[in-house]
Amino acid sequence: MDTYNAIIGRRSIRRFEDISVPSDVLEKCVNAGRLSPSAANKQPLKFISITRKLKEVFRYTNWAGYLDWEPDESEMPRAYIGILKKEGYGWDIDAGIAAQSICLTAWNEGVGSCILGSIDREKLQEILPFPSDFKLIYLVALGFPAENPEVVESENVVEYHHEDDVLKVPKRPLDKVWIKW
Ligand SMILES: Cc1cc2nc3c(=O)[nH]c(=O)nc-3n(C[C@H](O)[C@H](O)[C@H](O)COP(=O)(O)O)c2cc1C
Repeated sequence: MDTYNAIIGRRSIRRFEDISVPSDVLEKCVNAGRLSPSAANKQPLKFISITRKLKEVFRYTNWAGYLDWEPDESEMPRAYIGILKKEGYGWDIDAGIAAQSICLTAWNEGVGSCILGSIDREKLQEILPFPSDFKLIYLVALGFPAENPEVVESENVVEYHHEDDVLKVPKRPLDKVWIKW
């Protein structure tokens, strides 16, 4: 898969098969996060791979706020990578860039992902073992896809819907976002 096709073909996956994510895929994802760009190369991030207490972690996530749909526990993520940033150090965007690196690395291995920013950080901090001077910025949910969402060209960015059980993801058309000068 070339980089461009990986970037345009990746979709957020929120329904997963009941298959574990191989540990070598998790390692590749964390390594991709580690080697991602960071402001002034400060590398303020740590990564926690999570393959236990999955139901508990799932409880403290918030799925697809725009969709009139509740995820089924049987289709929950089979792993997560938590992206942690040292308090008061580096830039938050470093975590976002690392998150995209993780998602694209997973996608290239046939593993679906979803970046989760709407999470109960306080509760998750109680469950997950990580240094107290680090803050959880994002979780990236991972698993083999049990859905195949499709892009629809639309200016209405909240127009998510299921059609024949396929999630349609609105994206603003190219000519609406590209200012040629
Ligand atoms: C910073 C950030 C936070 C996000 N948080 C959540 C979240 O809490 N729950 C969720 O279901 N999706 C979350 N998403 C996924 C977006 O909803 C998703 O990227 C968007 O709907 C576009 O779909 P696509 O990723 O398939 O292009 C988040 C994405 C980003 C970049």
